[in-house]
Amino acid sequence: LRGDEVIVVSNREPYTHEVNDGELVVRRPASGLVTAVEPVMRACSGTWIAHGSGSGDRKAVDRHDRVALPPGQQDYLLRRIWLTPEQEQGYYYGFANEGLWPLCHVAHVRPVFREGDWEHYRAVNQLFADAVVAEARSEDPVVLVQDYHFALLPAMVRRRLPRATILTFWHIPWPNPESFGICPWRSEILEGMLGSTILGFHTRFHCKNFIETVDRYLEARIEHEHSTISFGGEQTLVEAYPISIEWPSPEAAREWPSPGQCRAEVFERLGIPHAHRVAVGVDRFDYTKGILERLNAVERMLEKYPEWRDRITFVQVAAPSRSALEEYRSFRERIERATERINARFGRPEAPVIRLLAQHHEHEEVNKLYRAADVCLVTSLHDGMNLVCKEFVAARDDERGVLILSRFAGAAREMPEALIVNPYHVEETADALQQALTMPPAEQRERMASLRSTVHEFNVYRWAGRMLTDAARLRLRQRVSE
Ligand code: G6P
Repeated sequence: LRGDEVIVVSNREPYTHEVNDGELVVRRPASGLVTAVEPVMRACSGTWIAHGSGSGDRKAVDRHDRVALPPGQQDYLLRRIWLTPEQEQGYYYGFANEGLWPLCHVAHVRPVFREGDWEHYRAVNQLFADAVVAEARSEDPVVLVQDYHFALLPAMVRRRLPRATILTFWHIPWPNPESFGICPWRSEILEGMLGSTILGFHTRFHCKNFIETVDRYLEARIEHEHSTISFGGEQTLVEAYPISIEWPSPEAAREWPSPGQCRAEVFERLGIPHAHRVAVGVDRFDYTKGILERLNAVERMLEKYPEWRDRITFVQVAAPSRSALEEYRSFRERIERATERINARFGRPEAPVIRLLAQHHEHEEVNKLYRAADVCLVTSLHDGMNLVCKEFVAARDDERGVLILSRFAGAAREMPEALIVNPYHVEETADALQQALTMPPAEQRERMASLRSTVHEFNVYRWAGRMLTDAARLRLRQRVSE
């Protein structure tokens, strides 16, 4: 694809500009999508189209609403799209996050489908599709469409740029046909997505669910052998591309403070008693992440294994997310109540068991926490992939620390050396915590070394590389057939 034009479309932008005390500061939003796609974009340059959501975003762009990124480096252009409050409410909060998000995660939060949200969703997809066409300098760009915010956009772009190569990646799970079938606009969504040349999911299982959903609700031809779907004269390849992280370079890792320094710093900053062990969780404040189940597991562990009382601190970083939605606000309140309950039961006022840090943290701070921890808990109830577990192992060049990982995160398939748990089973997670805290260093090392070699090899460039290689093959085939 060398020399071809690359355009990324996502809702979340790779950097926001915020006005802070009259100063313009740059921030990296907490998003698995951004973590994965940004390094790829740095490597291949091009244009990234995303919603301008930061308080200072308008101040940072030129008259074409563009800004060169990353700050100080300028490898690619970000074109910001402005949404009205009504559009943001209907398209982003409404249809994307109250409809599609719970629909695809099947996390026992009922999806809400409102006609008005759907109208905004369609209109905003059109707005972004128009921006793709406006930004395109060739008639056959490679368009990388990211996530459930843009299910309709591939077909919209396809109509205007029939020769474009459209790669759509769905960062969240795809449910079974029965679950997906409750969406009133299921056919429109599927038809929109089938405007893609390639449609990527994290796992074979999600691909299979998608193909079965199309089979159930559309008149399409499915070729199981090649994993392709033909619909409306177009062919779409449906493939699994497990997403990952950028593996830290040796130069970057050399700059990190040692695990001992990280530990000293974290203990000092949070006032953790010296003799304590530390377990961490790092998530957006989202009901799919299994944070409540995790707290219950810590509580159960302290009931069942009293030798850990006043010997462990659990630090939960919970980056505020979508807090305009009632479901997210009440979830946060539930977590705060559970934290108080457990701290009242097992903590001392000066040494609480649970430390809930409900703020945005920059990667550097999170990395210190990973390096300081004895255990990292990733207990999502359902997760497309989950990158926290991969970031944790990337941070552990000392080959220490234990990962507890939900079997319902896509990552569990690639990371069997973690302690794999069913997060709904509190007893099992409590036992895994006990196992982690008592695991001999040699076993920690063996598991961690193996996890590290997997994530190192299957890094985010492998993810993008496989998708782009498939795209190049299909482009060549198209050119030859013309
Ligand atoms: C998930 C989604 C991303 C999204 C991220 C953060 O990882 O797959 O598309 O960017 O959550 O959520 P937010 O709504 O804040 O962008």
